[in-house]
Amino acid sequence: MLHRMFSIALLVSSSFIAIGQSSSATFDEGSKVFRLDGGDVTYAFGVNARGELQQLYWGGRLGAADRIPQAAPAREWASFDSSYTTTPQEYAGWGAGLFVEPALKVTFADGNRDLVLHYDRHETTSDGFNIVLKDIKRQVFVTLRYSMDAGSGILARSATIENKEAQPITIEQAAAAAWALSAAHYTLNYLTGRWAGEWTLTQETLHPGARVIESRRGSTGHQANPWFAIEAGDRPDENAGEVWFGALAWSGSWRITVEQDQLDGIRVTGGFNPFDFGYVLHPGEKLESPVFYGGYSAHGLGGASRILHHYEIAHLLPHRVGEGDEAAPKPRPVIYNSWEATEFNVTEEGQKALAEKAAELGVDRFVMDDGWFGQRKNDHAGLGDWYVNSTKFPHGLKPLIDKVHALGMDFGLWVEPEMVNPDSDLYRKHPEWVLNFPGRPRSEQRNQLVLNLARPDVREYILGFLDKLLTENDIAFLKWDYNRNWSEPGWDQLPPAEQKKVYVEFTRNLYAILAELKKRHPKVELESCSGGGGRVDLGILQYADEVWPSDNTDPFDRLTQQDGFTYAYTPQIMMAWVTDSPHWLNKRTTSLEYRMLSSMQGSLGIGANISKWNDVEMATAKRLIAAYHQVQRTIVQGDLYRLISPRNGSEFSATQTVNGDKSQSVVFAFIHSTQEGRGFPLLKLEGLDAKAEYALTPIEGAAARGTSATASGAWWMNHGLEMSENFKGDFQAAAFRLDRK
Ligand code: GLA
Repeated sequence: MLHRMFSIALLVSSSFIAIGQSSSATFDEGSKVFRLDGGDVTYAFGVNARGELQQLYWGGRLGAADRIPQAAPAREWASFDSSYTTTPQEYAGWGAGLFVEPALKVTFADGNRDLVLHYDRHETTSDGFNIVLKDIKRQVFVTLRYSMDAGSGILARSATIENKEAQPITIEQAAAAAWALSAAHYTLNYLTGRWAGEWTLTQETLHPGARVIESRRGSTGHQANPWFAIEAGDRPDENAGEVWFGALAWSGSWRITVEQDQLDGIRVTGGFNPFDFGYVLHPGEKLESPVFYGGYSAHGLGGASRILHHYEIAHLLPHRVGEGDEAAPKPRPVIYNSWEATEFNVTEEGQKALAEKAAELGVDRFVMDDGWFGQRKNDHAGLGDWYVNSTKFPHGLKPLIDKVHALGMDFGLWVEPEMVNPDSDLYRKHPEWVLNFPGRPRSEQRNQLVLNLARPDVREYILGFLDKLLTENDIAFLKWDYNRNWSEPGWDQLPPAEQKKVYVEFTRNLYAILAELKKRHPKVELESCSGGGGRVDLGILQYADEVWPSDNTDPFDRLTQQDGFTYAYTPQIMMAWVTDSPHWLNKRTTSLEYRMLSSMQGSLGIGANISKWNDVEMATAKRLIAAYHQVQRTIVQGDLYRLISPRNGSEFSATQTVNGDKSQSVVFAFIHSTQEGRGFPLLKLEGLDAKAEYALTPIEGAAARGTSATASGAWWMNHGLEMSENFKGDFQAAAFRLDRK
């Protein structure tokens, strides 16, 4: 069977053409094949002779009349690997001798742990299928949802498990979906990191065995991000080659297992992290998995990320304007944030003074960070007490907010709702509200504990204070922070056998609060921050308009982080502040122009202590913010081409974005440190209209040379953009815009 899948893939890859923006979901009664087409992608699976749901094809779009043969179980391998384990199932129960990663593992009340899921029935929906599987003997049902996006070919998959037995069952492992591939060699790409060092693109050849990417931390985590991309071949290419990618929409503990099985097939299984998992389903109850999105591109990692960015912008992010594939949120306001300038030392007068300077720069939104509430002088006290500190703000927040509005900006505020300092009124009143095991230590991190958001009373408290805050104050934006991971994750309100439900209910309640706030305060925008990029995933992005990728704002480090970030997420959500030099983390000194251009690759913000900026610095920032505003939509929502990667100590790096109708493009070029007098490489641009004429205008830095300012798209793409001889040195930056004539 694997052999047959491979030959279908070969057939299409040689005659691959873009087929356009239509989608279809068809079921062939005779062959029992389900087929989904969208964008340039076809996905197919079928019911095999045993009744299992078996994956058949995932790749470039097939001809409409092509018939995909009926699913046939894969062969067994001697007496050691049964056909049940060698067959690539869409959603395999653990039973019947399954040795690869199961999608679902349960224990029944009588101790039986065998689960074999067969096709039961299905319905066709507007964009896909709902397929019901049932255990061969028992009343356990799984509904698999498939929904194909017409434009991008991105397939959204999820599973709902339902217990119709007379007794409870315990779910020990539940995936959202399993994906299968088969070819000779693959390279796996995934994102790893740590606090202040997020978004490292890690690349490795797949070998027999399993590679586990996960978070056991209760939230998404800095250590790994729930995204993968698998490239055919062992030499990753930015713009060529087949890539299968996926992202899990879940902000709790998660796991993606990528395994090469005994017959060299690849299986990717992802969902709730099974570590310490146990979800009791009483008779009649259901458990719904997160959504696991999957996509395909024949144009390398660059093609894959362009598809994913577009999907995020057009279909996932909140506050979209427009319909269908044309929908998009507005580019983010350019913000000023007070954190690096004042840390906890915020006052009405100090913030007003910063707001005046921020307005002079042309900033759109003023955000006050940590320190405004409770008895918050440092990180030892106050979290949980969400009343305005009357020493720092004797008249409440109104005078500051009014001032910010009078200066022509809107107002944003920092909160960290899920946390509590033991030194707070809230903890003194409700010590039972934190995650803990009674009688065991409560481990603090940053002097704080995690409120057990799974508890209904905690959920109501958080919703209540946020609703009040937003009702009483004219707040346009919340920066929602989350500054530690879990420890001692007990939930002693529930019987011992049920306490592990905390892994699901905590995150569900977080989403429920965000959904309710959105309903009550539809205009309020949100940033997801977790000590930087610790909570970035497609789950939170249904509610969060933007994210804070890292507390590391060093402009040189950011180039690599931003490069890594964009493999999975659009620059639209990638907040990037310009902060002070020398930088607090690396002690590196860089020019303001370099810092501005590094941040302008994403959604620009200013986070420096601008009260100390001189006239020249103010004028430079003002000029570049104005230039950024003019081309922002192209930068953050256009097609992104990573022309030269900053990874692995590269001497140079460059990116380019092209807007939807190819009328505008923006290029960024950075020099780390010139060596041996080498000039900047000729930049062959991408994605322009070859026949159109484009005028090149420097936004900042080196001028181009060797060409007139206007040339055809063909010139810029084939001949390339040549930098001035003088574009040399350490930490140098240049930016250009190209506008169609
Ligand atoms: C986290 C965030 C920072 C800042 C501080 C405030 O570290 O990532 O940007 O908001 O908290 O305490």
